[in-house]
Amino acid sequence: MGGIDIPETIIKAEGVLKVYETEELKVNALNSISLELQAGEMVSVVGPSGCGKTTLLNCLSGLDSVNAGTIKIAGEDISKMDDTRKSAYRARSIGFVFQFYNLLPVLNAQENVELPLLLARVKPEEARKRALAVLEQVGLADWRCHMPSELSGGQRQRVTIARALVNKPAIVFADEPTGDLDSKTSREIMDLLLDLNRCEGTTFMIVTHDNELADRTRRKIFMKDGMIVEDKRNQDYDFTCPAAFSDARLAQKDFVSRKKA
Ligand SMILES: Nc1ncnc2c1ncn2[C@@H]1O[C@H](COP(=O)(O)OP(=O)(O)OP(=O)(O)O)[C@@H](O)[C@H]1O
Ligand SMILES: [Mg+2]
Repeated sequence: MGGIDIPETIIKAEGVLKVYETEELKVNALNSISLELQAGEMVSVVGPSGCGKTTLLNCLSGLDSVNAGTIKIAGEDISKMDDTRKSAYRARSIGFVFQFYNLLPVLNAQENVELPLLLARVKPEEARKRALAVLEQVGLADWRCHMPSELSGGQRQRVTIARALVNKPAIVFADEPTGDLDSKTSREIMDLLLDLNRCEGTTFMIVTHDNELADRTRRKIFMKDGMIVEDKRNQDYDFTCPAAFSDARLAQKDFVSRKKA
């Protein structure tokens, strides 16, 4: 698909303040954060340990509440939603990928991917079909019956990416998605995320310690002491959808139609 910016604000944060207070100390984890993210963007977030990256993802996704400021997702203020609405909204609109996979060990790859759909009351047959399609997309169709313990780190992370994508969320938040992987596998996972962004238009916000990986995203946000200190755009960004990925998508369509037959 083309290199067109879709001028639709998917996230808008203004003056966000997050304070963690324990008996001994008070930490300003987020210090007046304002940020806008357009649909289809892929942004990396970097910064030293403790600067507030995870807190930022947790607040933007509504997993954690803020002390001041507003966060709107697709125009809706998440602080004004009650818990039930917030959970339903998260389940439908947001995908999560974490460092340590968080797969259920007693379910195989496909069942792990189906789970969010079944929880959202999608019919089992439809859930199966959609899970298979995304597993194919992340290159794991042949591994669908394997248990997490029978998969490599990179394969497990692919399963969590498939799980995050299966309900077609508006945005995927990833916190150190390659943190537990070797550098070659990290690059492969980053390739996959970039392809999904370029070819499917999925919006990603990715926290990483790895500057080499962060440099591959079109936009890079630097944080320090709970603040955004730099917001840099890479003008030379290549939007071209790689041929290999298009082939995989064709194979996926073929695979799904064969399954139906
Ligand atoms: N639940 C909590 N209670 C108290 N303080 C917290 C809590 N969670 C985070 N903090 C503090 O908030 C600050 C930001 O933490 P955060 O986890 O967002 O950092 P980070 O940038 O993700 O770091 P890392 O790169 O190590 O994952 C830190 O000083 C941390 O100690
Ligand atoms: Mg963190």
